Amino acid sequence: MMDIRSDMLSRLRNRKPGYTLDRPFYNDPDYFQVDLENIWYKDWLFVGHDCEVPNPGNYMTVDVGAYSVIIVRGRDGKINALHNSCRHRGSRVCAEHRGSAANLVCPYHQWTYDLDGSLMFARQMGDNFDPSQFGLKQVACESAGGYIFISLADEPMNFEPFRKTMEPYFLPHRLREAKVAYESTIIEKGNWKLVWENNRECYHCAGNHPELCKTYPENPSISGVSGAADDPETAEHWAKCEAIGLPSKFQIDEDGQFRAARMPLLRDAISYTISGRKAVHMRLSDQVNQDRIGTLLLFHYPTTWNHVLSDHAITFRVMPISATETAVTTKWLVHKDAVEGIDYRLEELTHVWTETNDQDRQIVEENARGILSPAYEPGPYSEVHEGGVAQFVEWYTRFMESRLSGEGKPSLRSVA
Ligand code: FES
Ligand SMILES: [Fe+2]
Repeated sequence: MMDIRSDMLSRLRNRKPGYTLDRPFYNDPDYFQVDLENIWYKDWLFVGHDCEVPNPGNYMTVDVGAYSVIIVRGRDGKINALHNSCRHRGSRVCAEHRGSAANLVCPYHQWTYDLDGSLMFARQMGDNFDPSQFGLKQVACESAGGYIFISLADEPMNFEPFRKTMEPYFLPHRLREAKVAYESTIIEKGNWKLVWENNRECYHCAGNHPELCKTYPENPSISGVSGAADDPETAEHWAKCEAIGLPSKFQIDEDGQFRAARMPLLRDAISYTISGRKAVHMRLSDQVNQDRIGTLLLFHYPTTWNHVLSDHAITFRVMPISATETAVTTKWLVHKDAVEGIDYRLEELTHVWTETNDQDRQIVEENARGILSPAYEPGPYSEVHEGGVAQFVEWYTRFMESRLSGEGKPSLRSVA
């Protein structure tokens, strides 16, 4: 692995700024392993929403590379993240993707764990057995604005700067109390970085997303990182939203890992429908008293990008599966009291982004295939349209460089 790490480091150091990466970053299994160890096993990852585990005992599981993690609401209401590996002989304790249980009981020999991971009961293990030494291992877990994040690192990075930025934007939308109306997971046959590169520009939108383009502006300042502060229409939108208590101005953190901004939709559309009219006849949050608030955008590398509208929210989760496969999970959140068939039609609610996701999947897969050709060489990003992509690749480059060279944060101990 050492050779791969130095090979990767030298490619990152010699890369041409403003250009795509060398081929191995997009398809090499060893490079993928280095990504897992340095980003996915170290950083904060969005896994799901508080409202998906509303009551004690509600749980979901998530796989991150080789890890399986249980996210479970404890008796005290706190959300816990636990390694899904029994402390007896290692069986997965929860085999289901989602469920509800009074305790977590391993299916193999019925070791029984409390919802905080402590071992309550293990049959006939002898007098010298000390159950307090065999609780499920803890995973760092934080909840912010209705989003659950975990970190697999032994010493997680400081979560607070993200919380401090994100919560003022998100708390008014009360996603903690929402409900997931629909969820889809698609597998894109492309590296996770290709999924992100595609997400961070709308250069491809006009040619590929007829449904989304009815409401979502292609304006590169929206997908990019300029913030559109000098665009009068955006400035007016921010002023209007901030006047009703909705923080909206563009903010990006100093490392470029996350960004929040509230952007207007085309022709003052309310929602991502073909007509631009609302898809849900009940606002997502009781705290928001207007419909035309555009879309609150948030990205946090490497796992999530988001759109929060007045009538619903759409959240995206990226999970790497292999060097050439990535799972993208999309959730549509609505007010918890909104009733399907009465307050919204599921087909209308999900239509635009279901189509858009599938179009993006095709684009990413063609991109991945083309990169396999020996004729591939890194190509230039458009300065006008692809500033967001360049920003993502720069974030990745700086982040990996600092970690691979031993200067980075957090600790660089390899898990291999
Ligand atoms: S492996 Fe879990 S109880 Fe034996
Ligand atoms: Fe797209």
